[in-house]
Amino acid sequence: MAGERIGGQQSRGAEVSGHETGGEPTDWGSWSQSWKHHHLLGLELHSAEEIQSILDLAEKFAQASQEGRNRLTLLRGFTVANLFFENSTRTRNSFSLAAKRLGADTVEFSSAGSSTSKGETFIDTAKTIEAMGVDAVVVRHATPGTPHLLAKHLSCSVLNAGDGPHEHPTQGLLDILTIRQHRGSLKGLTVGLIGDIEHSRTARSNIWGLKKLGAHVIVCGPATLVSRRWEQLGVETSHRLDDILPRCDVLNLLRIQFERQTMRPFPSVHEYGLLYAMTKERLARSKPDVLILAPGPINRGVELTSEVADGHHSVILHQVANGISIRMAVLWLLLARRVPSESLARG
Ligand code: CP
Repeated sequence: MAGERIGGQQSRGAEVSGHETGGEPTDWGSWSQSWKHHHLLGLELHSAEEIQSILDLAEKFAQASQEGRNRLTLLRGFTVANLFFENSTRTRNSFSLAAKRLGADTVEFSSAGSSTSKGETFIDTAKTIEAMGVDAVVVRHATPGTPHLLAKHLSCSVLNAGDGPHEHPTQGLLDILTIRQHRGSLKGLTVGLIGDIEHSRTARSNIWGLKKLGAHVIVCGPATLVSRRWEQLGVETSHRLDDILPRCDVLNLLRIQFERQTMRPFPSVHEYGLLYAMTKERLARSKPDVLILAPGPINRGVELTSEVADGHHSVILHQVANGISIRMAVLWLLLARRVPSESLARG
């Protein structure tokens, strides 16, 4: 029975194979059986099969939500902590919702207003949160490698919610899921990543994931933000959006990350817009069924115009919705092994 109490403690991981309203029962436990990882640090570290498996499980969770099963109890008794040392709207809220939709409790930590201002170190802060009985820590930090450092110091699972310009694995996964939903497969597609590639963790995670699933990737932007060394990752580079437009099945428009730049990479935002903003005129010269993605936050009039952001090629809000099911999938894959076997057997 979901949520039964054993010896005064709430049981963990109820309803592993069940559902709460209607539909065929899903054997959620079977999805995690071959999962080997304790952390989600970056898509560089995952195989094509693992990435496909996360996408497939995310589809199952999305389907469960559509069927009205917004409150699964798979992770009842578990706690997920959000440790955000940088601002976030999408990632933080969707990790929080994902955890809640799996039945977990959440802890919300922001560096602003915390005891870090009194000199407590990052590791001590994370260990303090973990000591409150946390099973997974979701971390965003401006310094690349921060989640990897935490993974060495904590026993619980660590999920990278963006480490500086390095990786943003759940963003890469939700972008790829959105493309797969609209195109069926990634194999053979040409995906253009446009904008500030140099400072983009989303670009890196997309490149790892897209390449592993068989897409051709073009990174395009000003020469100061797109160097030839990206070709070492197996992608094509371009500085001329107008040249690559007719070849792209998907355009993912990345934000200019002024906060990570030490010097201005182009003369003006106006000039950037003239050369790289997605406009209705550029849309008219693109493939008729081109998909427009943007990880956000979007800056209307810089990476894209409002007509494009709100037009029928745009799947920007689908990306946001997919973020929840992707994060449910990764939380379940990382934590399912801690669900007591009697709960798994109950299904
Ligand atoms: N795409 C993304 O990471 O958005 P947030 O900064 O709002 O989380």
